[in-house]
Amino acid sequence: MGGGSGEGRHRAWNDHKQRGMTHTIVRGYAAAAEALIGPYEAVATAEVLAPVIDLLPVEPSRIADIGAGTGRDAAWLAEEGHRVTAVEPVAPFRLAGQKLHRRLSIDWLDDRLPDLGTLRTRGPFDMALLNGVWQHLDSDAQEDAMRSLVGILRPGGLAVLSLRHGPGAADRPVFPIDTHETLKNAEAEGFAVLRAEERGSIQSVNRAAGVTWTWVALLRG
Ligand SMILES: C[S@@+](CC[C@H](N)C(=O)[O-])C[C@H]1O[C@@H](n2cnc3c(N)ncnc32)[C@H](O)[C@@H]1O
Repeated sequence: MGGGSGEGRHRAWNDHKQRGMTHTIVRGYAAAAEALIGPYEAVATAEVLAPVIDLLPVEPSRIADIGAGTGRDAAWLAEEGHRVTAVEPVAPFRLAGQKLHRRLSIDWLDDRLPDLGTLRTRGPFDMALLNGVWQHLDSDAQEDAMRSLVGILRPGGLAVLSLRHGPGAADRPVFPIDTHETLKNAEAEGFAVLRAEERGSIQSVNRAAGVTWTWVALLRG
């Protein structure tokens, strides 16, 4: 027989499954990047972050923007005086972001959820932003990713997540997000829930598709 414990095998299978899924998603974004860069940059960060803007650090802080896309939010945060690491697994987004926001000093990193193995070595951070990323993780990976957020944040650090509800593009698979489960996972990892607020979509294509969002702010214990 052999092959380790049931739990070990389950974990190995989950890791394998998530790696395959992330590979598909990253490939899907890379193929669509040219069409997505303009619309991503056209969104106003202050408008998007409105549900949590009062909770953002005022003092210059170390912030990780995870799943940063073209770095629109990373650039806004850098302009606010923060030291920002933009984590993005899709090369065309990283390259576009580096070019578009070159006058700002943003550290770009090729890393991915749920492990954040490289980002972990660069921490601890005062805040993590995950804007529109969580839906690309299945429920097992969402649990692992919550644990990873604990690993990159300092005690008292803030995690801000926008949870997307609704359909996604066929070549960039999305998974359902159960807000209640997400908050329960967060609390199990020692986070206190500061806010969970429902919002409509700012982007008209998402609005038309019936996409809604929950903005969540979590304080690391
Ligand atoms: C909907 S876009 C949002 C981009 C950006 N945060 C924004 O608001 O414009 C989702 C982003 O998450 C990234 N992403 C997808 N799966 C990821 C993963 N497992 N880890 C980190 N980023 C991921 C994608 O490459 C893409 O840039």
